[in-house]
Amino acid sequence: MRKKFIAGNWKMNTSGIDGELLAAGVVNGVADETRVTVAVCPPFPFLARIAQVVKGTPVALGAQNCYPKANGAFTGEISPGMLIDVGCQYVIVGHSERRQIFKESDAFINQKIHAALGAGLRVILCIGETLDERQSNRTEAVLDAQLTGSLANVTAELLRNVVLAYEPVWAIGTGVNATPQQAQDAHAFVRKRVGQLCGAAAAQAIVIQYGGSVKPDNAATLLGQPDVDGALVGGASLKADDFLEIVRAGIQ
Ligand code: PGA
Repeated sequence: MRKKFIAGNWKMNTSGIDGELLAAGVVNGVADETRVTVAVCPPFPFLARIAQVVKGTPVALGAQNCYPKANGAFTGEISPGMLIDVGCQYVIVGHSERRQIFKESDAFINQKIHAALGAGLRVILCIGETLDERQSNRTEAVLDAQLTGSLANVTAELLRNVVLAYEPVWAIGTGVNATPQQAQDAHAFVRKRVGQLCGAAAAQAIVIQYGGSVKPDNAATLLGQPDVDGALVGGASLKADDFLEIVRAGIQ
């Protein structure tokens, strides 16, 4: 059985001290619970200090982005190796905010995935359709294109260090979550496509998180769907109590 994975994407929020307090609250609440995987993904400048807070605890550390080169003249960018250096185990790639605001393509996301995996990070790859795409019945085509493009040359072996996050863009930060059935349908489709791309065993093993307005009051029903293996939580990850309630909903 796949272990549920709850990750908090703090986005461009918190100060250093607020981030430390938030991470400490998560660490205290998670205590020695290991039936669910938990990670926090703070902004870059606070990663090193929050690494100290989560060190030696079951709470993992993730970054929200990386650049697909090891080093060099890339002013303002952060390499996967640097993220390892500060104590990250995970990196989020392909978030819809990066796809939309920063025009990141599947080909670029694919480069990031290879660079991150090569450096020893685990990857949380986000995919998801816009409202327009859903309303014009293109959801599966969009997910298919994102998966195929982002996972180019990712073997079943490499995929063991990849987590997928299905995040319908219309549900992110809107308070309108996908219904459990909408999430389940998308997740089942994604798992089927992963099977076609990387084989049945890889499809059964891969963890697929749902993201988009996950809150304490909707987490249990979403996480109760057979193909929903966790949550990538934005807004509700900024309050330790809310995030911990979602973590508890992942213990089944
Ligand atoms: P949200 O964000 O929970 O605030 O909708 C989710 C995400 O963008 O990962």
